[in-house]
Parts: sequence; C-alpha cells; structure tokens
Amino acid sequence: MKIVVYVSGNGSNLQAIIDSIKNGVIKGEIALVVSNKANAYGLERAAQNNIPTMVKTLKSYKDQGKSRVEYDVDLAKEVLQKLGREPDLQVLAGFMHILSADFLNHFKNPIINLHPALPGAFDGAHAIERAFEAYTKGEIQYTGVMVHRVIPEVDRGAVVLQEQIPIQEQDTLESLETKIHAVEHQLLVKAIVKLIQ
Ligand code: GRF
Repeated sequence: MKIVVYVSGNGSNLQAIIDSIKNGVIKGEIALVVSNKANAYGLERAAQNNIPTMVKTLKSYKDQGKSRVEYDVDLAKEVLQKLGREPDLQVLAGFMHILSADFLNHFKNPIINLHPALPGAFDGAHAIERAFEAYTKGEIQYTGVMVHRVIPEVDRGAVVLQEQIPIQEQDTLESLETKIHAVEHQLLVKAIVKLIQ
C-alpha cells in the first residue's frame, strides 16, 4: 500500500500518519512526501523517518513564465515516475495548492484532503479563523473537521469522514485551533484506514 502525502508547512498531520504506520494502525508505507514549499517542516519530519521527499514550488514555474497547469501536469508525472506506478492513496495534509483536473486526471486511485471545517461551511483558506469569527457573531455554535475526496472544486468532494467540534464560551482562536488539530490528527488516520481496508 503506497501512500503519497502532500504538505506545505508544519506537517503535524503527516506526523500522525507516520506514527500510525509505526504502531501498525495504518497498514501501508509513505512512499513519498511532496512539498510545494522548500522550508516546510514536514520535509524535516519525512527526512527523520527516511521517507523520500520532493520539493516543487509553483514560484519556480512562474519565474520561468510557466503556468499552473504545467506545474500540475509535471507534478503528477514526477510522482508517477518516482513511484514507478500510481500510488494507492494520495493525501493532501495541509497542502496549500489547489490541484486542477490536469493533475487529478492522471490518477484513478483515491486522493483525499483534510479540511478544518464541516462540508460546505468554510471552503478555502483560513477556515478556523472564519469559523471563530462566525461564532463570535452568534452565527454558529460548532465547527468541525472533514476528510473528503479531491475534485477540481475546492473542498467540495465526497466526504470520507467528518466530525463536529463544539465552540465553547471560554474558547479563544488559539484553543479552538488546538482542539481542531487534535481532531484532525485522529480523523485523518481513521479516513486512511477506512480507504485502504
Ligand atoms: C491543517 O489544519 C489542515 O486542515 C489545514 O492546514 C493545516 C495543516 O497542519 N489545511 P499541519 O501542517 O498538518 O500541521
């Protein structure tokens, strides 16, 4: 079971996957970690665990006058080349780049994304901040986390798993973020187990 994980930053969700493979909960291996940021700490986590990494920045394409589509196509091709076959599962774990159909069309196996909000609630970036702001305005009482299949429309693919998280009076943006990340680490692992079973 070959898994490819995509990150852009800290990689705490990547770490949750690494830990769950080590303790036998996820029966598979991370064949490659891809980052679109050269300084993502997730790359360090991969290296510490002897996992191959690939850095590919959109900026390097833009600097050469190349398009996002060219980036997406090359990324798909390089992943396929590096593995020698299609990965069984690809996981976007804090990958801050919207993958177009030009990437997705290269694969038939599942590609999933982790999003720190409930389906249809706060699509796109800064979902936790936007949920907290909505709470302070009295518009919502809870938010959540979802793992969904990736389709060209951002944060809108079929939901694999979701979990509600109540926002409480004593919550601050920081405490809500901490709660959400803790749920993410568990939900993402559960979703991977569900998909590879
Ligand atoms: C997570 O909150 C994820 O849902 C969001 O980016 C964050 C990534 O965290 N899209 P990490 O890099 O896994 O620590």
